[in-house]
Amino acid sequence: METLQATQTIPANTSGFILKVSVVAALGGLLFGYDTAVIAGAIGFLETKFNLTPAMVGWAASSAIWGCVLGAMMAGYLSDRFGRKKVLIVTAVLFFVSSLGAAIPQSLTQFVLARFVGGLGIGAASMLSPLYISEIAPAKIRGQLVSLYQLAIVLGINLIYFVNLKIAAQGDPTWNVEWGWRYMLGSGTLPAFLFFVLLFLVPESPRWLIKRKRYDEALLTLEKVNGKAKAKEIADEIQSALSQENGTVAELFSPGLRMALVAGIVLALFSQITGINAIIYYAPEIFKSIGFGPESAFLQTVLIGVINTVFTFVAIWLIDRAGRKTLLMWGVGGMIVCLLGIALCFQYSITQGPWLLLFILAYIACFASSLGPIPWVLISEIYPTKTRGLAMSFCTLVLWIGVVFITQFTPVLLRELGGAGTFGIFMVNAVILLIFVWRKIPETKQRTLEEIEQSWKR
Ligand code: GLC
Repeated sequence: METLQATQTIPANTSGFILKVSVVAALGGLLFGYDTAVIAGAIGFLETKFNLTPAMVGWAASSAIWGCVLGAMMAGYLSDRFGRKKVLIVTAVLFFVSSLGAAIPQSLTQFVLARFVGGLGIGAASMLSPLYISEIAPAKIRGQLVSLYQLAIVLGINLIYFVNLKIAAQGDPTWNVEWGWRYMLGSGTLPAFLFFVLLFLVPESPRWLIKRKRYDEALLTLEKVNGKAKAKEIADEIQSALSQENGTVAELFSPGLRMALVAGIVLALFSQITGINAIIYYAPEIFKSIGFGPESAFLQTVLIGVINTVFTFVAIWLIDRAGRKTLLMWGVGGMIVCLLGIALCFQYSITQGPWLLLFILAYIACFASSLGPIPWVLISEIYPTKTRGLAMSFCTLVLWIGVVFITQFTPVLLRELGGAGTFGIFMVNAVILLIFVWRKIPETKQRTLEEIEQSWKR
């Protein structure tokens, strides 16, 4: 069945509106990148300031991520109940309070608490931003619009990296230990405030509104997104696909949806255990450990940021054209080759020439154009509106557990197995993922959320 929404052309005046709305929602991703990466620049100064033991350093660094796990877990339920927009506004408040709270503490406990609160916001926003964009976007460009969210994550990581550098360059080590890290963390209040204010300018998700029987309000937004002529038919299509009650956890495991749930969980988990954050978080350490000086370690980290950004644009360009599955197959295939290359470089100690860096950069390029954005896109579109909140919470929760796992265990793996073993494991994981994508992931480009819902039932 070809539906209207999938085949329509989007009128120019409405595409401006939907772009604006998506950019505002994607700011949740900017804060995600910003607030998770800020710790890299601040942690050393905090360590000296509060005289931390290695275990305490671990707490200081990971407290936000534990918050993310809980935030992701609760956001589905809360946003089904209170609306996507309202809960997004709460995440902006959490971001703000946490940035302020983490800038002024007098003790480690206060710091850990403030970061945990921020983590609740990051975790919740990490599922709500893509979910909201997916629920409001026209099918034809939905992949591109949700990928803006991934672009924002990457920009957030790069932005705080530079803010941290600038702040650290302002003063001597004593100033940095006393004040530098406070400014780094406190700087997060600015994007948080911006996010908070801008959220008041976007509408509630039309799919959520229809679920809550607020048909007329939903129609107004759908008219702005799709043009007057098509809006009513789209609204009716959404309504007829819905039954009114909220989805239950048991439904997620029902035969029709079980495979969709497994697909989402596998994508979320494997987007992490194929090693991206081992490189993003630990690249400078890895480069230093094989004998690069601080300047070239810094340069390489900048290169990683640039490649990550540029190739996210490649994904945005291709995702609705080539399709999610094709892009994933090529991207993960490329990651496997690169991971093999990295492992071999470590195995045969070819770490000084250009090869290791080239493989790492090519790996980032393959990831950014596929496995970076596509899990966010797919988990925001493969579930029925009724259970989307719950299902996305589930998948995002698994993704954050993957982040915790990689953050905690990468240093241990590197120490115990060396670079060859560590990247070899990531490679095996990528092979498993490739086979799974090939066999089990459906193509969803240009289909409406309601059409995708029907296809699982079949
Ligand atoms: C994806 C991952 C996230 C990672 C980022 C890097 O969004 O989910 O964990 O840090 O890509 O680009």
